[in-house]
Amino acid sequence: MPTFYAVGVGPGDPELLTRKGERILRQADVIVAPVSNPAEASVALETVSPFLDESRQEIIIHQFPMTSDPARLVPAWQEVAALIAGRVEAGRDVAFITIGDPLFYSTFIYLLRIFQVSYPQIPVEVVPGISSIHASAAQALVPLVEGDERMIVIPATAGVDKIVDALARYETVVLLKVKPVYKDILELLKATGRQGNTVFVERVGSMRQKVLTDFGEISAHSPDYLSLMIVRSSS
Ligand SMILES: C[S@@+](CC[C@H](N)C(=O)[O-])C[C@H]1O[C@@H](n2cnc3c(N)ncnc32)[C@H](O)[C@@H]1O
Repeated sequence: MPTFYAVGVGPGDPELLTRKGERILRQADVIVAPVSNPAEASVALETVSPFLDESRQEIIIHQFPMTSDPARLVPAWQEVAALIAGRVEAGRDVAFITIGDPLFYSTFIYLLRIFQVSYPQIPVEVVPGISSIHASAAQALVPLVEGDERMIVIPATAGVDKIVDALARYETVVLLKVKPVYKDILELLKATGRQGNTVFVERVGSMRQKVLTDFGEISAHSPDYLSLMIVRSSS
């Protein structure tokens, strides 16, 4: 039965795409790559390009407005949902690619909600992907959690207050989207004595990967959008 797939392509290394993800991407008639942040879209497409055949597959790069304003985003998502639904109803398998995992801070989540409400007759299948967090921990050789420890994930753009609270309560704090508030985070890590327990990872899984553990180097660095930090209460 023609299906709408969401395939998590992992952090950027084609070898970190699951075998199931690879199979579906090779077989799909249509590949959809949403572009809201250009840095993310190129990573997803580059990651899967070894498995695509442009002579046989339709590859759609769909540009979304760079905004969090629902008045502009909702119509954009409805438009792409209609585009996908039309192709599935015409008998074609459509695969929507996302970096990392599709259900983890991914734009696919908006689309899933639209399909559940407006196209309940269309089968949706999600293929999980390796998240940037797991790939980063592996590259840095840092345990995320063990025993009774707890971990919290915070998009740093949620506000410094939330990070302060998390550092006080959780053994491991993972900060995503660090770029816009990098200086504030560095100040906070200094103030809370976490300089020795912080790992910074940028573009994990790519040729441009950077893993920094020295706080001086972390402080001197200017991060790009695909960067995160793992902060432990002790190393
Ligand atoms: C919207 S979230 C997407 C998360 C993604 N769905 C996942 O499973 O990893 C974007 C944030 O994830 C982190 N990220 C995604 N890919 C990354 C990579 N290759 N290296 C480091 N951080 C990454 C960055 O913090 C970035 O700002």
